[in-house]
Amino acid sequence: MNEKINKLSIIKPDDWHIHLRENEVLNLVLPHTVKNFARCIAMPNLNKPIIDYSAAKKYSDLIIKKANSKNFRVFVPYYLNHNIDLKNFEIGIKQNYFFGAKLYPSNSTTNSKFGVNNLEKIYPALEILQENNSPLLIHAEKVDEKISIFDREKYFIDNELQEILKRFQNLKIVIEHISSEYGAQFVNDSSHPIASTVTLHHMLLTKKDVFNGDTNPHHYCMPVVKNEKDLIALRKFACSGNKKFFLGTDSAPHDLKYKEGTNNIKAGIYTSPIAIEMYTSIFEEENSLNNLETFSSINGANFYDLPLNSHKINIEKVNWINPDFTEDSKIKIKNFMGGQKIKWKVVSN
Ligand code: DOR
Ligand code: ZN
Repeated sequence: MNEKINKLSIIKPDDWHIHLRENEVLNLVLPHTVKNFARCIAMPNLNKPIIDYSAAKKYSDLIIKKANSKNFRVFVPYYLNHNIDLKNFEIGIKQNYFFGAKLYPSNSTTNSKFGVNNLEKIYPALEILQENNSPLLIHAEKVDEKISIFDREKYFIDNELQEILKRFQNLKIVIEHISSEYGAQFVNDSSHPIASTVTLHHMLLTKKDVFNGDTNPHHYCMPVVKNEKDLIALRKFACSGNKKFFLGTDSAPHDLKYKEGTNNIKAGIYTSPIAIEMYTSIFEEENSLNNLETFSSINGANFYDLPLNSHKINIEKVNWINPDFTEDSKIKIKNFMGGQKIKWKVVSN
């Protein structure tokens, strides 16, 4: 039945996980998000992580000013670390300067060196989150040289997350960019208030697209993409309409100089320019276009107790070629699927 659908109108989506960065990169990437998303969670792993509410306010004010769009909204989580100023944290949570808090295990990904390697240090902050019905957003990977990068999610869930769930039974939790069948099944089965964002690249790539002889830096992200069975499971949960799974691109731009010609490749894939279009293609392939709006525009808002957006976007089956780069005279960012034919297009919003 879905083959016949070539036009869709859905509630304007939200991107519940994105990296907007600062300065020139912010200027370049922000229009892609503002065009197709009503709201977003802008991650706090800036070069100077966001650890006080005045910095969070400054960052969100800056984004709103640059977005220059009446209805666009942005939320900024606190960056959990080992030296939390609890008073500032509590004010920031209560006054909504922080949209919950983000847990980066230290050295798990880009700009995570100030993250957490001893969970006990953050328990007082988690108490505050729980009391205020404010969410804990987790980069759920256990970093240990004895653990393969492909197993980090499983080990985090078994060793760290279980401990958090036991201690904070009412804490609202999101496992960000869920990447494995094990993780998605865990979220599905849990009776805890827990949900997951799902990226489009974790539903399109497997590890062969990254590590095949040389590493492909443009497909390298954290958590790394995994096996076919993981991709299939993520597609199944995301496309099923299951309310625990919702849209978060984890679109993570890096200038070409941090991707090519370096031994220290930064993790992150820039997907914003084609995000809605490729989620639509995936849902079409899974014969689930009827669940696209639930995933992209409803489940996240409901999980976060936020109203649904009132505007709509129209998506049509139109072929177009995604440009190779998003660039200006100073910055050059490789677009995910740059140079490739895209089959859907957002035509108005
Ligand atoms: O690949 C990633 N890039 N994963 C993350 O968790 C962070 C992000 C970034 O900031 O570049
Ligand atoms: Zn991220």
